[in-house]
Amino acid sequence: MKTVGVFDSGVGGLSVLRALLAEMPQAHYVYLADGAHAPYGERSPLQVAERAHRITDGLRHHFGIDALVVACNTATALAIEGLRAEHPEWPIVGVEPALKPAAALTRTGHVGVMATRGTVESDRYARLRERLEGGSGSPLHFSSQACDGLADAIERDDKAAIQTLCKRYWEALKASEKNLPEIDTLVLGCTHYPFAADELRALIGPEVALVETGAPVARRTQAVLKDLPARKHGSGVHPGVTLLSTGDPQPLARAAHRWLGLDVSGQQFTC
Ligand code: DGL
Repeated sequence: MKTVGVFDSGVGGLSVLRALLAEMPQAHYVYLADGAHAPYGERSPLQVAERAHRITDGLRHHFGIDALVVACNTATALAIEGLRAEHPEWPIVGVEPALKPAAALTRTGHVGVMATRGTVESDRYARLRERLEGGSGSPLHFSSQACDGLADAIERDDKAAIQTLCKRYWEALKASEKNLPEIDTLVLGCTHYPFAADELRALIGPEVALVETGAPVARRTQAVLKDLPARKHGSGVHPGVTLLSTGDPQPLARAAHRWLGLDVSGQQFTC
């Protein structure tokens, strides 16, 4: 029995928690939404890295977590190398836009990627993209769209804003088809976006594949946990979920109920 820390800027990482619960229902999860500092996508790389370090220290020291899942593409892109350097002996799993699975799926060779500005403009993302575009024998192109405001609209559960922004960004991606084949695969490169999947599906139609990262991240976490030694003092851990927010915990608890069917009240946590 293990305790797994999971964090995101807000409710988006619940899409990863959902996959973790499906894969490993027997673990205890401490989920932290950094509500007081969300969204991350339009913050500076330094601010996001600072928050990621503080949260990691807070979860590690207050909850004795065995492993950490950075359930946020933006924080992974901007902070995971620093987190691993600071906690070298301790497992940290990150989330990256699923470009590789999309490359295997696409038939036209044109993949759309929706992500935050922080992710799209990061060096880590540029390297990931270059490796795949340059390394493949067949022509492969990723059109990347920074979706300012979309994570925030999902955070507020503002359906009208979600629809407007999805339409705006999907149209921008379609415009990139001028000199390229049609986009047949769309990567959801932000953990918030699976919660806009219905709005997106209505726009893109049934033929375009939507790719998200929850399930592979859950499998990777399970593999990492298997390699950890058993806890010294018995488990003392019960399966379940603790929900924390650095801001108002109510929206997090409501989202966890709405999307994951969890009946857990949220608690405030300062770090
Ligand atoms: N859910 C996050 C991600 O995967 C961050 C969204 C945001 O806070 O802007 O990138």
